[in-house]
Amino acid sequence: MKVSEWKEMIAQAKLWAIEAGKEQLKRMDQPMDISSKTSDIDFVTEVDIWTENFLKERILDRYPDHALLTEESGVHSGKADYEWVIDPIDGTVNYARGLPAFCISIGIRYKGETVAGLIHAPKLGETYETIKGEGAWCNNEPIQVSTVYTLSKAVLGTGFPYDKATDSDNNVEHFSTMITQIGGIRRIGAAALDLAMVASGKLDGYWELKLKEWDVEAGILLVAEAGGQAEVFPEPKGLSVRAGNKEIFNILKDQIKR
Ligand code: IPD
Ligand code: CA
Ligand code: CA
Repeated sequence: MKVSEWKEMIAQAKLWAIEAGKEQLKRMDQPMDISSKTSDIDFVTEVDIWTENFLKERILDRYPDHALLTEESGVHSGKADYEWVIDPIDGTVNYARGLPAFCISIGIRYKGETVAGLIHAPKLGETYETIKGEGAWCNNEPIQVSTVYTLSKAVLGTGFPYDKATDSDNNVEHFSTMITQIGGIRRIGAAALDLAMVASGKLDGYWELKLKEWDVEAGILLVAEAGGQAEVFPEPKGLSVRAGNKEIFNILKDQIKR
């Protein structure tokens, strides 16, 4: 049965992410090398690279045939049916500024389908995990999406892309459509955590544009396994995502027109 394999892989991922998270916390207050990527505010720190290398080494040491898709180094092909999709620090801007909302996100695909996920937020002290068909947990306790179904009471998460100053498809229109109708909005700054917040009922829904596979791989399964609904679809500049408890998800599907 594959589920036992998935459980074993997630148990390993959790140990490695906890170890890497300790190092992230240790290095957080120290001066660090930071370089820009696609814009002045899209950057990578030496701790992103350190974390990615640490996880890659651990995974390939134990599962030498597995494939990897990672934010900072791209594709590492492998013969096996498994692929690990990794964001070593989701929420790098938060990390570099000493804000607590950042995490390691690890999704596991089997024959192209997401079957397990792990989101570890060391500064928040939260470790989310999920296995397809088995459920979703935070710090070993089962989690569920919220039961807030009224839009005027709902607290939603969203985000704005790094090219917001140069491309008018920057979520500002969707934001202004939603803001007057909802209870509140949060810009947490880490897409994987936004999805974890939906899965654990702290947010009632979430949408964002122009994301990447490593941002959402673990979080989408987490939301589904916590009783919510989520969809991801490719657009020319990245993935669009909507997620929520089922009622809020349906409202977002209707209101965020793409
Ligand atoms: C970013 C975060 C942010 C989202 C960006 C992502 P990074 O990931 O998830 O919340 O708005 O689109 O790129 O760069 O911190 O790994
Ligand atoms: Ca990310
Ligand atoms: Ca990242």
